[in-house]
Amino acid sequence: MTKQRQRWGSKLGIILAVAGSAVGLGNFLRFPVQAAKNGGGAFMIPYLIALFLLGIPLMWVEWTAGRFGGGYEHSSAPGIFQSLWKKNRFIKYFGIAGIFGPLLIYIYYVYIESWTLAYAFFSITGQLSGITTNAGFVELLRSYQGISGDSFFSGSFLSLVFFLITFGINIFVLHYGIRGGIEKLCTITMPILFIFGIILMIRVITLSAPDPAHPDWNFINGLGFLWNPDFSVLKSATVWMAATGQIFFTLSLGMGVILTYASYLKKEDDVVQSGLGAASTNEFAEVIIAGTIVIPAAFIFFGPSEIINIANSGAFNLGFITMPQIFNKMPWGAILGFLWFSMLFLAAVTSSVSLAQPAIAFLEDELDLPRNKVVTIFTAVSFLLCLPSIFFLNRGVLDDLDFWGGNLFIVLGATIEIILLAWVFGIENAWEEMHLGARMKLPRIYKFIIKYITPSFLLLILGYWFINDWWRVITMEGVSKENVPFILAMRLVMLALLVLLAALVWKAWRKRKMEDYH
Ligand code: ALA
Repeated sequence: MTKQRQRWGSKLGIILAVAGSAVGLGNFLRFPVQAAKNGGGAFMIPYLIALFLLGIPLMWVEWTAGRFGGGYEHSSAPGIFQSLWKKNRFIKYFGIAGIFGPLLIYIYYVYIESWTLAYAFFSITGQLSGITTNAGFVELLRSYQGISGDSFFSGSFLSLVFFLITFGINIFVLHYGIRGGIEKLCTITMPILFIFGIILMIRVITLSAPDPAHPDWNFINGLGFLWNPDFSVLKSATVWMAATGQIFFTLSLGMGVILTYASYLKKEDDVVQSGLGAASTNEFAEVIIAGTIVIPAAFIFFGPSEIINIANSGAFNLGFITMPQIFNKMPWGAILGFLWFSMLFLAAVTSSVSLAQPAIAFLEDELDLPRNKVVTIFTAVSFLLCLPSIFFLNRGVLDDLDFWGGNLFIVLGATIEIILLAWVFGIENAWEEMHLGARMKLPRIYKFIIKYITPSFLLLILGYWFINDWWRVITMEGVSKENVPFILAMRLVMLALLVLLAALVWKAWRKRKMEDYH
């Protein structure tokens, strides 16, 4: 390879970039919904267990594997997997999960990201303060998404405008690469995001119970809803699946994103401390900031039983219907709403660029294409792939993409990579590699966790899914008859994408072999 590979500019830059990837819509929309839906305090126990037994160990695994593969000039999962198991000809094909998965998430995530930009605009221009009822907010969201009535397509003119702006911002950042684009973006936006989050947090903490009939609907009881442990539902597999799924999604694990980011590190860069730093930043944003803003605020204004109903009605309802109503009930509501949606947008954009990077890195480094060309190809392909989420939102296409990209493939990707690192590459080698350049030594118990506990935990999740769900998902049980053709068509597109990626991996290695031969 003749091209100079990209590098990060500074240690803080890389931590902010990984934290930027992790802190996203998952923290501020998905987490509160999952926590409320699964019983608040009952959810936090499996959540914290999954954080320590899956999340943090996998963070170190991905940073270590990524930096190791980067040493062999690879920056996406196929090459990184190949460098961990040099003798196996097939392992690189498993790495496709680390390009395909994030791409599937990217093509719906950017669309949701554009709603946050639109709602930030609606807040600051006072359009949200004029709405006084829940029905009014439901109507606004539905007409913005273009799913009112029984129209064939979803999408509205405004939603397309904001989508194009958001998509353009992503491409602009990606065009400037790792150091000039992603690192710069995260260095500027992450501090702003935290400032906005802390202002909102202080506002919620200082709220007094607004309803004299319900003095117990106050901040402390709102926090208690999330933090009072409830051991009774620990027997529920659904709660465990929800908690582990959340840990994966929120930390951007199993997506191939951290592998790619870590591949731009230098050999002596500390992965132990940086991995922990990025994970802690994410957990601060999720558990402390989102946990203090969303759940207590919804509790204070709507009470304990309604909060569960709101959560059951989906992630978007909480963010785009309930939260604006809460801000409307406070002084300076328009400004607070603007801070909320801008915070969501900043969180989302630093995540979406990371979701795009594995595909870009693959084309740039494995197919040896110049960045301009790569970004042009990525723009064209991902733009087309985004369209079904916009126009067939009303057909359940977005939810299906979220299932494959945001649930199944990430667990699959993580299972492959940890087995590869801990068992094929070997735990002793992995441990040594992990500690290269590390200022802090990990407790030895983590060697045991990475080798046995995390992989078993992952296999258990996958096994549970295969036993209980796979047939229902494949046969689209519960999908209404008229939506089946749309979901089926999208699944065929996904399949075609997988085949295309496999062909590109084959081509990349063939080219490499020919070059080595000459
Ligand atoms: N980790 C990103 C999020 O939480 C994808 O939204």
